[in-house]
Amino acid sequence: MTRLYDRIGHGYAAHRVADPRIAARLRAALAGCASVVNVGAGAGSYEPSDLPVVAVEPSESMIAQRVDRTRTLRAVAESLPLRDGCADAVTAILTIHHWTDARRGLAECARVARRRVVLLTWDPRSDGFWLVQDHFPDLLALDRAIFPTLDAIEAALGRIEVESVPVPSDCVDGFLGAYWRRPEAYLDERVRHGMSTFARLVDVEPRIEALRRELASGAWHARHAGLLARDALDLGYRLVTAKLT
Ligand SMILES: C[S@@+](CC[C@H](N)C(=O)[O-])C[C@H]1O[C@@H](n2cnc3c(N)ncnc32)[C@H](O)[C@@H]1O
Repeated sequence: MTRLYDRIGHGYAAHRVADPRIAARLRAALAGCASVVNVGAGAGSYEPSDLPVVAVEPSESMIAQRVDRTRTLRAVAESLPLRDGCADAVTAILTIHHWTDARRGLAECARVARRRVVLLTWDPRSDGFWLVQDHFPDLLALDRAIFPTLDAIEAALGRIEVESVPVPSDCVDGFLGAYWRRPEAYLDERVRHGMSTFARLVDVEPRIEALRRELASGAWHARHAGLLARDALDLGYRLVTAKLT
């Protein structure tokens, strides 16, 4: 998986920047914490600017895209090169589905965190949304296989609090569900490049062409008219907090 991001990570920061509304949810989850270790940190999205942060990231390509001076360790979640309880909080944002051993990685997060582990993840029991339901059911199946269930997370971390994170209709972080109300975006190869699961699929282009035809004919808008009035939608993204003390 580390190799996946060394292969697809270039250009990540162009389409994957922190959405301020989601950032506010994550920052609120860190209330009372004075230091953070951000695991699977990527280019640094969602790291609080007002707290000391140590970033942990295995991919050189992703580390190269960091723009700040945050201390960055090249390492994997499953073996954090940090001492027990060295930070108030550990965050892991849209990364645990990439870990080779999520249970071990989460145990490492709980070892390093004094007070809190905060995750942004996707609930694999979710039905996803029109893109995966209508065009890429194989993508939905792949994601369901790699995203840990909330039960598995709880088994690793102890009692967790789970909150829905609805995706704003103009979300600026280009993860898979970000463009649910802007379907034309999925036609753009550069946008899809920021969504790792597409790199695992075959026959993407014919299905993108089918979407292009649906959009051109008005069929998409007729079918999904109800979505166009929505400002945010629950697509299964979840804020998970384990309070350790
Ligand atoms: C979708 S990106 C998310 C990056 C960042 N947290 C963000 O929100 O933009 C997933 C990140 O997980 C990293 N990753 C993959 N395997 C990992 C592992 N075993 N331990 C820690 N991070 C890993 C990837 O290199 C990549 O940077």
